Amino acid sequence: MYNLFEIDEWKIIERSFDPLKQKQAESIFSIGNGCFGQRANFEETFSGDSLPGSYVGGVYYPDKTRVGWWKNGYPEYFAKVLNACNWIGINVEIEGVQIDLATSQVLSFYRELNMKEGTLKRLFKLRLADGKELEIESLRFCSMHNEDVAAISYSLTPINFSGIVRLTSYLNGRVTNHDANYDEFFWDEVSRDINSSVGMVCAKTKKTDFYVATAMCSSFSDQNGLLDLEVKLNECELYVENSFGHALNQGEKYTLHKYISIASSVKYPSSELVDKSISCVKNSASLGFDALLHNHIGAWERIWDAADIVIDGDSAAQQGIRFNIFHLYQTYTGKNAKLNIGPKGFTGEKYGGATYWDTEAYCLPFYLKTADPQIARQLLIYRYHHLDKAIENAEKLGFKNGAALYPMVTMNGEECHNEWEITFEEIHRNGAIAFGIYNYVRHTGNRDYLKKYGFPVILGIARFWSQRFNWSDSKKAYVMLGVTGPNEYENNVNNNWYTNYIARWCIEYCLEIKEEVGEVHDLIISEEELATFRNIVKNVYLPELEGTNIFLQQDGFMDKEQLSASDLPLNERPINQHWSWDRILRSIFIKQADVLQGLYLFEEHFDLETIRENFDFYEPKTVHESSLSPCVHAILAAKLGKVDKAYELYLRTSRLDLDDYNHEADEGLHITSMAGTWMSLVEGMAGVRITESSLNVNPIIPKSWSCYTFQIRYQNNPLLIAVTQTNTELKNLGDSDLSVYLNEQLYTLKANESITV
Ligand code: BGC
Repeated sequence: MYNLFEIDEWKIIERSFDPLKQKQAESIFSIGNGCFGQRANFEETFSGDSLPGSYVGGVYYPDKTRVGWWKNGYPEYFAKVLNACNWIGINVEIEGVQIDLATSQVLSFYRELNMKEGTLKRLFKLRLADGKELEIESLRFCSMHNEDVAAISYSLTPINFSGIVRLTSYLNGRVTNHDANYDEFFWDEVSRDINSSVGMVCAKTKKTDFYVATAMCSSFSDQNGLLDLEVKLNECELYVENSFGHALNQGEKYTLHKYISIASSVKYPSSELVDKSISCVKNSASLGFDALLHNHIGAWERIWDAADIVIDGDSAAQQGIRFNIFHLYQTYTGKNAKLNIGPKGFTGEKYGGATYWDTEAYCLPFYLKTADPQIARQLLIYRYHHLDKAIENAEKLGFKNGAALYPMVTMNGEECHNEWEITFEEIHRNGAIAFGIYNYVRHTGNRDYLKKYGFPVILGIARFWSQRFNWSDSKKAYVMLGVTGPNEYENNVNNNWYTNYIARWCIEYCLEIKEEVGEVHDLIISEEELATFRNIVKNVYLPELEGTNIFLQQDGFMDKEQLSASDLPLNERPINQHWSWDRILRSIFIKQADVLQGLYLFEEHFDLETIRENFDFYEPKTVHESSLSPCVHAILAAKLGKVDKAYELYLRTSRLDLDDYNHEADEGLHITSMAGTWMSLVEGMAGVRITESSLNVNPIIPKSWSCYTFQIRYQNNPLLIAVTQTNTELKNLGDSDLSVYLNEQLYTLKANESITV
């Protein structure tokens, strides 16, 4: 595979400027801190092709829906993450000539995303139309230490001239979204302020009334220290600037430091935002760039200490996994239960920045194993807070008695997706949310959570399933009609095996924990309802291929022409870009793991032979046109000992965006599938499984790796796992004894004890 950027274990590096790669690079080199994020747009004016993106977590706009044929039950809007105030802007004019990489001659260019330190750096030399040459170096970060803060250091060195520079440091809230249904402008100004030391723009979103105050403070220095300059002020609606001119001497370096604070009403009362952002930016400026950077790097160091995976012997794989871990932590840090993880994080507008089932099915396992359990808990609490809305949502569709249908796509608990085959039918998302609670409990052993917050959610979901199944006289079983499974290349099918299976499991789990939690809250569950639950659990229909162990994706699956993805001509892939939707729906080709997704989640329920038979049946039919797919197949391939297949699928997922396999990195990165990449290594290669009663490790290692090492948390105890071609080392890094099955053999490790097998 062609690598878009240089391979380096800790960095993403670009050594020449290619305007055609700019939008891809803007996504890949994005930075963020869980609270806000910024695409790698340039600070200075750039008139070339670019997708400006500055996003503030949780701030969205309900863009009015556009559909051809309105159906009852459709939501009114599709939430959009908003492009917010541009805080990076610094314009540079040399003797009246604006610098612009699209129009100036770029003599050299170096861009670096340092994943260890969480910084974005650029170093480039330009020749202007009049022959003047200068070197510019910029470094910026969104602070992981103080999540309201960002900072930029922007240095200029005139190479072959001395002359006057005019620098304009600005905040611009007059920004639009690339993806807006009616080209509306989403922001209103609340207030602005500008003086020679601080500038501030406070804006509010139309309709949703989110307030965001962005403040800046700029200083300019040469080698001898701060320069005292005459600053010109300029302002207009949603815009403020500080601008100053200075004589530059040839060969000397001058640096502009721009400090930023972003405070939003997602986090603070709106009346406090202006003061908050101004006092925060002043504090940052008095601390200084180096101290802020030091604290920021320290925060990343703590994340890497717990979450890093070291792969020896394969730099491409090493860079790939770090890139994934890095972006996941830039997107979500678990500090605010109102925030969640959009499929594109803070790297683009696609998917509206909203929450999908991706969170529970893919991201939750990552945070459960790499961070304090509090972080994963926040993700669950988010859904707990949305329970009433999920009940309302189900009521709108005709369900009753506290049945809850969580939205396919949401910002605040309301459904905002409007394609009937997904909104009404892709209901398996409910199962992933229930499974997430179960998964959290088995990782943390926190049964209090289950009782207080988990059970009401599980019950609402179980009620939904019990009403969504119907009894079939002809099959003498409960069936579920008109659904879309995880494989979105099939719509409106009957008895999707995955959905029926997870629904039945959920009702069964509800019955099981009902015993444990006893009378909780004011939830009244009648004997009649419990009897219905039990009856359904015993009699759910699950389609199978007679005479085999193969579970059929849905009724009628074998009527399809039985082809394999290898029969597809390369120029017809991805089929979603070449075939009509009708042809896709009638074909056998599977967009993403579906039956195999179920075997992955409920692996303990099946023997190895059954998993193998289903894998061999479905993998050749799967085109993996969802980024969420290869990781699940990789995990199962590893379990089946298919090391080469697992490695091939792992590489495909880990470098999906870095090498831009799907030619779509320009619109943002696949953040949620990055967690899948991590799973394909930890659960796939290392075979880590956490069941209700045990921790298990069954590792394999690809031929090209000499060793891989990482930590996981189990019941809040960190365990180090190092796998080489010949042995596996386990080390208990926690304070209490830890029991672990390594290759089916039980070992109990005391604090700090290790074994090598
Ligand atoms: C996938 C869904 C996923 C969504 C957002 C779609 O392409 O099919 O499973 O939830 O992307 O990542």
